[in-house]
Amino acid sequence: MDIFTNRMGYGAMQLAGPNVFGPPRDRDAAIAVLRTAVELGVTHIDTSDFYGPAVVNEIIREALHPYPADLHIVTKVGARRGADGSWLPSHEAADLRAQVHENLDHLGLDVLDVVNLRVNAESRPDDSIAAEFTTLAELREAGLIRHLGVSGASDQQLTEAQSIAPVVTVQNLYNVVNRGDDALVDRTAKEGIAYAAFFPLGGFTPLQSGTLSAVADRLGATPHQVALAWLLQRSPTMVLIPGTSSVAHLRENLAAAELVLPADAVAELNALAAPTGTPR
Ligand SMILES: NC(=O)c1ccc[n+]([C@@H]2O[C@H](COP(=O)([O-])OP(=O)(O)OC[C@H]3O[C@@H](n4cnc5c(N)ncnc54)[C@H](OP(=O)(O)O)[C@@H]3O)[C@@H](O)[C@H]2O)c1
Repeated sequence: MDIFTNRMGYGAMQLAGPNVFGPPRDRDAAIAVLRTAVELGVTHIDTSDFYGPAVVNEIIREALHPYPADLHIVTKVGARRGADGSWLPSHEAADLRAQVHENLDHLGLDVLDVVNLRVNAESRPDDSIAAEFTTLAELREAGLIRHLGVSGASDQQLTEAQSIAPVVTVQNLYNVVNRGDDALVDRTAKEGIAYAAFFPLGGFTPLQSGTLSAVADRLGATPHQVALAWLLQRSPTMVLIPGTSSVAHLRENLAAAELVLPADAVAELNALAAPTGTPR
């Protein structure tokens, strides 16, 4: 968890064009979001070369290079984009190596701090990831990567990855109404692994809940801040990467790190999803 001492980070995916494809409408605004994030103390930015593709990494480089010494840029490999913007899994060793080099080039780095293997376990929770994770472990041994993680991975795939190389982070879909990963959140807390919840605000399906709004009203906060504060209180190794293309939303989201939810509010929010993860 040393890398993620500031648990409130920033997810850069929203800085590409519509559907995370092509350039943003306003590149200067994207640069302003990144610079403001760092000014406000963010030390963890999540990205990938398949955002754009390459667009988001190039914007990060333009906005922040040379990078502050305490900034941790977390990227992921394991997919390509089709000409129509489709997301195409790509796990062959040669292409994983190529993707690591493309991230290095586009970010302007000699070493990538953290690389997640995008597993996409929803469609293959029982598949072995040994071959693909071994490729990344070899790149780590070669000094191109400092730390490894898995994304969209099952409990079993995390165990398998750990048998190959240390895993510092798991990045999976999790939020106050999507709690299918409850057991994995608890496991990562026990093992001291950072759990980065992607779609903390619902992603492409924004969270909407009367309970979130009611709790927010009571606390003088916004529903987005309550959703983020709930995640931070859910586990000591939870790290957040809310995405936004707006400086105002960024400020609002980062301020959620200071929001303390009282026990009755946590209980109400816990009841939003059954422990099995079934949204109500
Ligand atoms: N590992 C994976 O497979 C995977 C998959 C998806 C995402 N990710 C990572 O996770 C990060 C977070 O995911 P995400 O950005 O898709 O979803 P998110 O953080 O759940 O939600 C982002 C959406 O919420 C809006 N938003 C953000 N803050 C807001 C606020 N304060 N008020 C109102 N609306 C607000 C954003 O619009 P505005 O731009 O208008 O603020 C955007 O539409 C990504 O940036 C990416 O780095 C990883």
